[in-house]
Amino acid sequence: MQFTECTIELLEEKSYLLARRITQPTCILLWGAVGAGKTVFARAFIRSYYENEALEVVSPTFTIVQTYFGHEECPSKEKLDIWHFDLYRIENEREVHELDLREVLDDNICIIEWPDRLQEISAQRVVNVYLNVIDEKYRDLAIQL
Ligand SMILES: Nc1ncnc2c1ncn2[C@@H]1O[C@H](COP(=O)(O)OP(=O)(O)O)[C@@H](O)[C@H]1O
Ligand SMILES: [Mg+2]
Repeated sequence: MQFTECTIELLEEKSYLLARRITQPTCILLWGAVGAGKTVFARAFIRSYYENEALEVVSPTFTIVQTYFGHEECPSKEKLDIWHFDLYRIENEREVHELDLREVLDDNICIIEWPDRLQEISAQRVVNVYLNVIDEKYRDLAIQL
């Protein structure tokens, strides 16, 4: 796997480019420690996908999931819904079942922070994004399509 050293601007740019390529339901798994930049990556992705730089994307740390509806965020184009999860607070698989994650995966774009909370992820298309902290300004980033 090839890692690239990224400033926040480059990391956002890589996320933008990924979002431009996604046209089918896809599960994007964001791997990395607290503060690695998972939410930064997700925010850039969602803004790019809906072609709206100003779209408010809050971290789902407390809500566990935030949902964006394609027909609301980008009515002029046929865009999928995005479910942005932060599973940090999930303590067992049963809580994940209560979120209906499995049903959601088939028809939507799912962006999942803390995917290690899940035992397995059965989605047709999975993109793995790995983030490692180098220092305050730099992150190592690898995107595995
Ligand atoms: N190169 C970088 N890439 C991403 N975030 C960075 C970078 N350098 C500094 N940061 C900062 O690190 C923090 C990452 O926070 P966040 O995306 O919420 O992390 P996570 O969701 O992984 O816990 C932000 O405050 C961001 O400004
Ligand atoms: Mg986060």
